[in-house]
Amino acid sequence: MNLNRLTFFTALLLSSTVFAKEVPVQKVALVGDRIVEFIPAGFDKSKTPSLILKAEPISKGTVPRNWRLRPSFSLTDDKAEAVLNLPAGVSLYGGGEVTGPLLRNGKTIKLWNTDTGAYGVEEGKRLYQSHPWVMGVRQDGTAFGIIFDSSWKAELQTESNQIRYKSEGALFRTYIIDRESPQAVLKGLAELTGTIEMPPLWSLGYHQCRFSYGSEQKVREIATTFRDKKIPCDVIWMDIDYMDGYRVFTFHPKNFPNPTALNDELHQKGFRAVYMIDPGVKQDKDYNIYKSGSANNVWVRNNDGTDYIGKVWPGDCTFPDFTNPQARNWWSGLYKDFLATGIDGVWNDMNEPAINDNHLPDGQRTGTMPTTIMHKGGGDLPAGPHLLYHNAYGRLMVEASRKGIMDANPNKRPFLLTRANLLGGQRYAATWTGDNMASWDHLKLSVPMSITLGLSGQPFNGPDIGGFLENTSGELWANWLGFGALMPFARGHACAGTNDKEPWAYGEAIEKTSRIALERRYRLLPYLYTQFYNAAKTGLPVMAPVFFANPADMRLRKEEQAFLLGEDLLVIPAFAKDPELPSGIWEELSIVEGDMSDKYQAKLKIKGGSIIPAGKIIQNTTEKSFDPLTLIVCPDKMGTATGQLYLDAGEGWGFKKGDYSLLSFTAKKTGNSLNIKLASKKGSRNPETEIQKINAEVLINGKVYKGSGSLKSGIQVALVN
Ligand code: GLC
Repeated sequence: MNLNRLTFFTALLLSSTVFAKEVPVQKVALVGDRIVEFIPAGFDKSKTPSLILKAEPISKGTVPRNWRLRPSFSLTDDKAEAVLNLPAGVSLYGGGEVTGPLLRNGKTIKLWNTDTGAYGVEEGKRLYQSHPWVMGVRQDGTAFGIIFDSSWKAELQTESNQIRYKSEGALFRTYIIDRESPQAVLKGLAELTGTIEMPPLWSLGYHQCRFSYGSEQKVREIATTFRDKKIPCDVIWMDIDYMDGYRVFTFHPKNFPNPTALNDELHQKGFRAVYMIDPGVKQDKDYNIYKSGSANNVWVRNNDGTDYIGKVWPGDCTFPDFTNPQARNWWSGLYKDFLATGIDGVWNDMNEPAINDNHLPDGQRTGTMPTTIMHKGGGDLPAGPHLLYHNAYGRLMVEASRKGIMDANPNKRPFLLTRANLLGGQRYAATWTGDNMASWDHLKLSVPMSITLGLSGQPFNGPDIGGFLENTSGELWANWLGFGALMPFARGHACAGTNDKEPWAYGEAIEKTSRIALERRYRLLPYLYTQFYNAAKTGLPVMAPVFFANPADMRLRKEEQAFLLGEDLLVIPAFAKDPELPSGIWEELSIVEGDMSDKYQAKLKIKGGSIIPAGKIIQNTTEKSFDPLTLIVCPDKMGTATGQLYLDAGEGWGFKKGDYSLLSFTAKKTGNSLNIKLASKKGSRNPETEIQKINAEVLINGKVYKGSGSLKSGIQVALVN
């Protein structure tokens, strides 16, 4: 390094030291069970509104005297930063939608929602969502987490000795949860940021998508093929080409002339239909949505007062300013007629917002609108620059979409999928991990990515199974579906110009493998649905890291090939090499004929001491899955086991008024027999109308013992061959 450069760098260093001003903490308050709020002096809500918390926290007494974890705040050139020093030996997780490993020690991520197609698997890529949240697990298995309650553009560094959140905006609040386990910390995160709402049962089925099934005829053909081939599937997706020139809320006059008839037909075959809606509205003076948006003054504006125009699929577009309540209401109102065609679910995409700004004169491509553009705000939200609101644009959009869907069909549970979101945005929409690649790296990455989203408050997520970009081989597809079918959100998707990626596209052998994989998912729906019930109630993830089985077991902290589904089922994908598995009893199980001998299927193991409810193989969720119900039982060392089954109408809100049934089963071994019974029941729904017969399969030391009975009689299983 020459002298000039040295002087330059010293000056740079000095300038940053000189201007970093420490900011004292002005208020520390206990706002929940072992949840503490830290507010820096000078914090101003009108500069950093909270778009993350579900409600304003309420002070609940004094902070415990021995509270250790305390962040420090500083300002450099008016840009706020917080640092939390860490005790030694902490394993870090979280940060939301990230590439790279599950264990986040020593990582830096940018928090700036970005459309990064083919994002690669390496560190530091900006992705579609921002989750300013980190969880630390101490060596003894106790844990803590920190929320940086800000949507300003930022960087999150998770060093082993400290967590640093550097924003490009004003001061913000932080929340620290310090509890006995990572699970308890995630419950704390949910107490602050909310949980998912119970999804409709059909959305837990398999979803088939492509960019795009280009005509009603093609959609019919796909649907019919699923049924003819007896491959279970619940949902067919309509990507952008159903629209008329990519104008949102329209249908292509030639290729999708009669969506009502199409949706009707899909319903008759037991399918649901999900359609895409992007935020960009084509600037076209003859297009009613554009005209209505302009008349209602909803568009994001340049600072000179003209409408901001950016290019997306339809060419020049205007964008609703979702920070503004009137604009959100206007947007919500668009869904009524659209959904009246029988559309069941909505897919909000490109909502970072992704904008093709290649045409900028200075050649600086940002992929979104200028950071200096001012958003209008209104209601609880102040006016503020795009630098503040960018990371919340998708989250505000899905808030408005969800409301529109609810207003249109108040008696149905919305299903909404979004690409962009912010920490806490699970309250409005499920998510998928964007434009991945058809590659082995991406197949492997999809496991830690989905787990990490679950550890960041978003349990309802999954990747494009098979990989979106580029062609997918049969081997890759079969391996991916072999475990992807067991992820919380299971959808196959394919980019335009790539090969067919439906389960039958790779020849007969892979078709059979695909059928087995999906039949497994459908058999496990009662268990999966129960996990979603837990997630909606507590915020716990559906897909959890293996170390959740024993947070104090340091061996498990890095495991990112295998995963847990709920607490009782271990999924070991076929690609997994020497995974670190939890100790104790875990019995391998078969739930579909041929699954254990199929080299592509993930291995499934049930935890000692647990009972897993399984249904029968069905082709879609309009068929009753619960009769006969199978209880898969794996006794612990004491010969006992417990498990739960949640059931309700699968749709609608009756469960909120008691129309559900939460069944707790227990099993106990006495001598050579195992006695399984319904130990307790909550809710006013009568489970006996749905479940007449119960079969039991008891797994002990690699052997299976069978019995049957009913909810009333219980089941007595003889443990002899
Ligand atoms: C975006 C989405 C992708 C979709 C495509 C066309 O790339 O991420 O899933 O298929 O747009 O709408």
